Amino acid sequence: MGARLRSVIRAALAMAATAVPLVPAAGADPLAPGAASCLACHAEGGGLPDLGTLSPQAIEAALAGYRDGSRAGTVMPRLAKGFSAVESRAIAEALGRTGAAGR
Ligand code: HEC
Repeated sequence: MGARLRSVIRAALAMAATAVPLVPAAGADPLAPGAASCLACHAEGGGLPDLGTLSPQAIEAALAGYRDGSRAGTVMPRLAKGFSAVESRAIAEALGRTGAAGR
């Protein structure tokens, strides 16, 4: 193996080792894995629906619709496909309106 190829491989390995994950690892996100990313767009007063005003069930249903294509959207279909049904439920419960039952 040439020295040039070796240094390219070494550089690639170094980059891989230091790459920042796009979705924070479980535990790094105090809400639910991936939930903090939603707030970048859905912040209060940001023009998009404030997730805190929606019920967890409504958020979960919307994510399922974006995931399976039954609900149209621009960015949400792409984003929703990145989360499983179980992850989507955890995100919905973390960000949705807390029920009147005082959950
Ligand atoms: C890049 C910006 C962006 C991010 C990040 C984002 N959203 Fe959205 N969201 C949108 C847009 C734009 C819409 C309107 C539908 C569309 O065009 O996709 C929307 C719509 C929604 C709706 C439907 C609201 C309604 O009342 O119709 C829900 C629920 C939702 N997003 C939840 C989430 C959740 C949960 C996350 C995190 C996993 C998230 N969004 C992350 C931009 C974003």
